[in-house]
Amino acid sequence: MKNKLELDLSYVSSFLGKDEMERMIPSLNAAQKTLNDGTGLGADFLGWLELPQNYDRVEYARVKKASEKIRNSCDVFIVVGIGGSYLGARAAIEMLSNNFRSLLDKEDRKGPVIFYAGNNMSAAYITELLEVVKDREICVNVISKSGTTTESAIAFRLIKDLMEKKYGKNGAAERIFATTDKARGALKQMAGAEGYECFTIPDDVGGRYSVLTSVGLLPIAVAGIDTDEIMKGALEACNDLKNEDLWENPALQYACVRNALYEKGKNVEILANFEPALCSFNEWWKQLFGESEGKDGKGIFPASTNFTTDLHSMGQYIQDGRRELFETIISIGSPSKDLTIEASEADLDGLNYLEGKSLDYVNQQAMKGTVLAHNEGGVPVIMINVPELTPYHFGYMAYFFELSCGLSAYYLGVNPFNQPGVEAYKRNMFALLGKPGYKLKDKK
Ligand code: PA5
Repeated sequence: MKNKLELDLSYVSSFLGKDEMERMIPSLNAAQKTLNDGTGLGADFLGWLELPQNYDRVEYARVKKASEKIRNSCDVFIVVGIGGSYLGARAAIEMLSNNFRSLLDKEDRKGPVIFYAGNNMSAAYITELLEVVKDREICVNVISKSGTTTESAIAFRLIKDLMEKKYGKNGAAERIFATTDKARGALKQMAGAEGYECFTIPDDVGGRYSVLTSVGLLPIAVAGIDTDEIMKGALEACNDLKNEDLWENPALQYACVRNALYEKGKNVEILANFEPALCSFNEWWKQLFGESEGKDGKGIFPASTNFTTDLHSMGQYIQDGRRELFETIISIGSPSKDLTIEASEADLDGLNYLEGKSLDYVNQQAMKGTVLAHNEGGVPVIMINVPELTPYHFGYMAYFFELSCGLSAYYLGVNPFNQPGVEAYKRNMFALLGKPGYKLKDKK
């Protein structure tokens, strides 16, 4: 897996013996069997497991066709969704595009500017978005598996209203694409009534495991990213990571190490990177692990940092604060672009010692220095080495983390595919908003 994804455990070894990991093998293999046999908690939601092999080719072809239509008919594309209904697409688009994509010319950008809505209820955010897009050509992809999520429903109502005033009902319908359940939910009903083209989230794939379905693939394709390569990477991960041998399977190793560290009191995992393009990937990963494992009073708290930025904010805590942390760093072998530091005659900034060095070399040394420092400060560091950021590697990583998460949650003994805790805030919010059938709990 050298050219795909590799785990380097050198900076964990002083905290965790090989023998301690080997003692976990029977339980890890049992978790693997439970997942593969579909005999565990939440087994109705295992559709993502063989998805890179079994995905619906007809739906996939429609996604590609619709993405072309969208790319040719708008300047602004709005992705309306929350949680698993937008984080994967955003992670891929930001990982694989120019860091300043929205400021490039349309041709260089390879598609419309992409905005995200329905992932918050800020009045200022949606008002300003509507103001910014109103005079541009707009297309929308509204994504909700349940079809009833309040954040996305409110944002969509406001955007739909603007589009119907701008294009008329039929014109708006040509520009609105819905991704939802095949039969149930308010969004499905509305899409049928209004004549929107509809894409389906398979019944057996939950939101946070859905990036390789139309949920993620339509917005990613609109951004001009090669989705065939993403699916190819995911398929290779799906084949490579079936191995039962701990030392031959990085997904098993990752599930093993994080649980071993958790059992030693390391309650917080920080996913870190040294590339700003990975910032939204952190957010996708946090949802995947946080919602899948954080239940029944258990689970590692998933946090994230972007380095070197956060070395100047969170670095102090990581180095010297409570020793309940471990870090997982995604290290990228070759950057998509690089430049060389030239000498300056006066050397007023004292940087001439870097003459002739590439900026990526400097970034790599910052990473090595950070790993050594954090290790010395008592923080185990798991290194995940990925050769480069390409659509293929995005697909590989997405599948790797989904599988590791399923294995890790089964090892921990929780259902990786539900999120009962998310309902608590909704019940209170609905009661406070006067939605029929909801009441605040009496205070004792
Ligand atoms: O992983 C999940 O299932 C959730 O995070 C959902 O993706 C999120 O709550 C949005 O739900 P929906 O797609 O039903 O609007």
